[in-house]
Amino acid sequence: MNLPITLDQVNQRTWNSRDATREFTMEKTWSDPGEAAAFSWVADECRDQPLLDIGIGAGRTIPLMHQISHDYVGIDYTKKLLDMSRARYPGVDLRLMDARDLSAFPDDRFALTTFSWNGIDCVDYADRERILREMMRVTRPGGLVFFSTHNREGPGFTESPWKLLPRLTANPLRFGWRCWRAARVLPLATYNYWHHKKLHRDFDGYSIKTAAAHFFGIVIVYTTLRAQRRQLASLGYTIDAVFGSCEGNRISADAETSDAWWFHFIARKPLAAPRKVI
Ligand SMILES: C[S@@+](CC[C@H](N)C(=O)[O-])C[C@H]1O[C@@H](n2cnc3c(N)ncnc32)[C@H](O)[C@@H]1O
Repeated sequence: MNLPITLDQVNQRTWNSRDATREFTMEKTWSDPGEAAAFSWVADECRDQPLLDIGIGAGRTIPLMHQISHDYVGIDYTKKLLDMSRARYPGVDLRLMDARDLSAFPDDRFALTTFSWNGIDCVDYADRERILREMMRVTRPGGLVFFSTHNREGPGFTESPWKLLPRLTANPLRFGWRCWRAARVLPLATYNYWHHKKLHRDFDGYSIKTAAAHFFGIVIVYTTLRAQRRQLASLGYTIDAVFGSCEGNRISADAETSDAWWFHFIARKPLAAPRKVI
């Protein structure tokens, strides 16, 4: 389906904004407890093996991935963020590259291929599939693919700029501060939300909607546990584990739904290529 503007146009503008660069350089370690749990799940198996880190932004994951292996390549398609990563981590192999085209890498090159902090949600659904195919191609047979994705059944999906209105409190100073803060962010957030609303769509198993991050500055794919499992299976992956964002709990293989904000999927490329059914 042709949308009036693309998700890339909206999102790349935001990745280049001051708010994005500020947030991505906040010395954060894990994005959430689910990411920490998922990293520790993959760490031993991938120890000292070749790693590909997609969508590195300003480099938050570089030291985390280096705890697993120094045989590491990081990529991002936003030059400003990549340059920040290069300045912060000189000598690390960091490349300007779009995840939809990993042709610079041969088949079966990496033991672990990651796309962290919901970066894969920032492209449309057809491109998401392209990226998952590319991630599988560059991962070696039996290797792991690890990414996170927003949950359409989670609390983030229903967020709108109303959430930025100041909450009442009996303390006049605190209320004044909340009003001042709202007055600073609400106009931009409201403008962004209404401007991006024309991109909002609902489909079987996923939706496209504005997310609250960066003053409602990004438009992303939200999917469901079931639909994400189905997509991975249709591409030939098996799923090792899924972790919920908030508590870092492992979501059982037979769970149909979840109220996590987002999921961390650890999928595996089969040892033998899936056989084509004729
Ligand atoms: C939410 S940010 C996460 C940044 C970083 N991984 C972190 O956790 O701090 C998403 C990143 O993915 C990158 N990205 C999104 N789509 C991409 C694509 N198709 N190819 C390469 N990078 C992409 C963006 O430029 C951005 O830096």
